[in-house]
Amino acid sequence: MDPADALELLMSPAGRVDPYPTYEQLRAHGPVVSAGPAFYLVTGYAEADAILRDARFGVMDDDLRDQFLPGWRESPAALSISRSMLRTNPPDHSRMRRLAAGAFTPRRIAAMRDVVLAQADELIDGMLARGRDGAVVDFQAEFGYPLPVGVICALLGVPAADRPLFRRWATDLTGILEPETTPEELAVADRGATELRDYFAELVAARRRAPAGDLTTALVQAHDGDGHNSASGERLSGDELLANLIVLLVAGFETTTNLLGNGLVVLLDHPRAAAALRDDPEFAPGCVEELLRYDSPVQLTSRMSTAPARHGDVDLPAGSWTIVLLGAANRDPRRYPEPERFDPWRPQVHPLSFGDDASPVTDRGTPAGTARATP
Ligand code: HEM
Repeated sequence: MDPADALELLMSPAGRVDPYPTYEQLRAHGPVVSAGPAFYLVTGYAEADAILRDARFGVMDDDLRDQFLPGWRESPAALSISRSMLRTNPPDHSRMRRLAAGAFTPRRIAAMRDVVLAQADELIDGMLARGRDGAVVDFQAEFGYPLPVGVICALLGVPAADRPLFRRWATDLTGILEPETTPEELAVADRGATELRDYFAELVAARRRAPAGDLTTALVQAHDGDGHNSASGERLSGDELLANLIVLLVAGFETTTNLLGNGLVVLLDHPRAAAALRDDPEFAPGCVEELLRYDSPVQLTSRMSTAPARHGDVDLPAGSWTIVLLGAANRDPRRYPEPERFDPWRPQVHPLSFGDDASPVTDRGTPAGTARATP
């Protein structure tokens, strides 16, 4: 299959159901292939990892958005996401990551363990009660969605009563994270962005009046310059504060919901792995890594190059646009033998499902080796 046709198929609803055969067709052309003028697709693990760490590659900035997405400044969704760390390059990206990483204190993260356990227990009790008389229980509705949302809301300090509001708003906004958005999807995403912005603006005002121990308070202090980073003089602007609060919610929930849902399906198909997991909780971390590798919740990301580069024996000119197919890279047979086999006993699994293979994650646009702690 021609790479451009393969990409078209991957972007279509039918092609997304099972993208893996299409990835293999693309891989047959090489780990990095041209799919049009200054446009490349990456299926190789080493090449994807190298590009994601390469300082010559960044996300689309405002100038490029003006060039490729005329009118984006009129879209509240595009505008909001563009001000967050997800869609900025250094030095803004590095500053925001430093401020956010500082707010994810070890104490705050350690406290989340009990929150996650308590919420998971409560949701499982609810599922048991609902299914007691043999009734069908929808795992995603009862667990896969509410757990990540509940955990992120607890982290941000969103009152439990307000959580149901987020499902529609956040789902609406996630359309803006797709590689292609129709005008109708954009209108829906704009509505979600406006609702979320209004909500978080009120939460920020409330935390400024009465600081609490949550992440929102920490990020408000990063904006006001009286937080943990005040000595460095680094700040978050007002737009960045709201944009990053929104991104934490939106980036954090659908990904985890999908991992839980996909993970359950895989484990139901692999009873030996499911039994091993039930017998030994220590088995969980390796099993989760393999689930992330086998069926990545985020299938792709993209980068624009600012200078000529060469990856996978292919010259990528300055200004070229590269789609990094994370789901394909995770199934590169040069990195994982028999990659189509789910094997939670597999040694050395480092999927690219969160981006590059660095742990802690390297900052976008900084040379590998200058890694900072990730939130
Ligand atoms: C299974 C769960 C998750 C997966 C698979 C996932 C995947 C990803 C990927 C692939 C990226 C990188 C995008 C790129 O560099 O182009 C990313 C970035 C990000 N994710 Fe996640 N994520 C998950 C959970 C979370 C959670 C729970 C949160 C927040 C509480 C979160 C917040 C973020 C943020 C803020 C970024 C931007 C980081 C930056 O650009 O510096 N993610 N995620």
